[in-house]
Amino acid sequence: MSILQDKVVVVGAGLMGTGIAHAFVTAGFSAELVDTNEAALAKALANVSEILDGGVRLGKVDGGAAAAAKARLTTRSDLKQAAEGAALLVETVTENLAVKKEVLATAAPRMLPGAVMATNTSALSVTEIATAVPQPERVVGMHFFNPVHKMKLVELVRGLATSDDTMARARAYSDALGKTSIVVNEAPGLTTSRMSAMAGNEAMWMLQEGVATAEDIDTAMRLGFNHPMGPLELGDLTGWDTRLAVLRYLHATLGEKFRPCPLIVKMVAAGRLGRKTGAGVYRYDENGQRIPGSGLKASVL
Ligand SMILES: NC(=O)c1ccc[n+]([C@@H]2O[C@H](COP(=O)([O-])OP(=O)(O)OC[C@H]3O[C@@H](n4cnc5c(N)ncnc54)[C@H](O)[C@@H]3O)[C@@H](O)[C@H]2O)c1
Repeated sequence: MSILQDKVVVVGAGLMGTGIAHAFVTAGFSAELVDTNEAALAKALANVSEILDGGVRLGKVDGGAAAAAKARLTTRSDLKQAAEGAALLVETVTENLAVKKEVLATAAPRMLPGAVMATNTSALSVTEIATAVPQPERVVGMHFFNPVHKMKLVELVRGLATSDDTMARARAYSDALGKTSIVVNEAPGLTTSRMSAMAGNEAMWMLQEGVATAEDIDTAMRLGFNHPMGPLELGDLTGWDTRLAVLRYLHATLGEKFRPCPLIVKMVAAGRLGRKTGAGVYRYDENGQRIPGSGLKASVL
């Protein structure tokens, strides 16, 4: 039986869940997207349609294939029903250990025997998340990147109990999505988040100290190192609330060099979370376009 026949459940219809669900249905899987928030589900469906329609407009996706992909995506608010008979679950709910463990504990008894349970956590412990289920060897990290439809990498994270079979199956799913996967033995922040969190935090320290403007810090990394995006733009895209949660975890596990910059704490307290709230380091108009010259000014910090 083709892997494409496997029932896939994606839990969490936020930024990442939307992208991951899109990746599965585009690759030919049928996917069920689950969220406790109905509004998030409606928004995710609209966003998946938009990505597919954009592909058609650009001539990258055939119209019929886009329609078929949309038809393969369903949504549900009841995880128990969604998990029935699933071969793969990708949890991508809020970055909170208790919430993630609850999702896995609820789904595990309803999935197929030997089903793979993947977590898209950015920085939490796969080993610890896996304690929520009776078969921790089935739990693996599948760490996707935002925006999922453009980013090729998946970090496959091996927890203490993850079996070779689970690793191989996670790799097969990743291959089926057309992604390139790397294997990481569980470590706080994996390879990418650890380096990216450090760069984003350092950029915020520089902004706070008035070393350079937000625009110039981002330009430095884009033009000096050929990064496609500067660290502050990237933080606005990721969401500073997610960034802060990751930094707090890395600070607790890896030490002082990851202490979150106070400016991030202040921005999150103010609700300036990034693109998703219309303002982060930069401000965005109602169409999501960045407002020129809107970078936070050191003089007003
Ligand atoms: N944002 C990124 O760039 C990025 C990249 C890689 C990994 N991640 C990780 O992916 C996960 C999700 O991040 P995001 O940015 O999509 O967050 P988000 O806030 O956009 O979405 C989270 C979604 O989870 C839903 N949710 C919360 N509790 C739930 C539950 N019990 N059952 C079902 N749904 C529930 C929320 O309603 C929300 O829609 C986090 O673990 C994050 O660390 C994020």
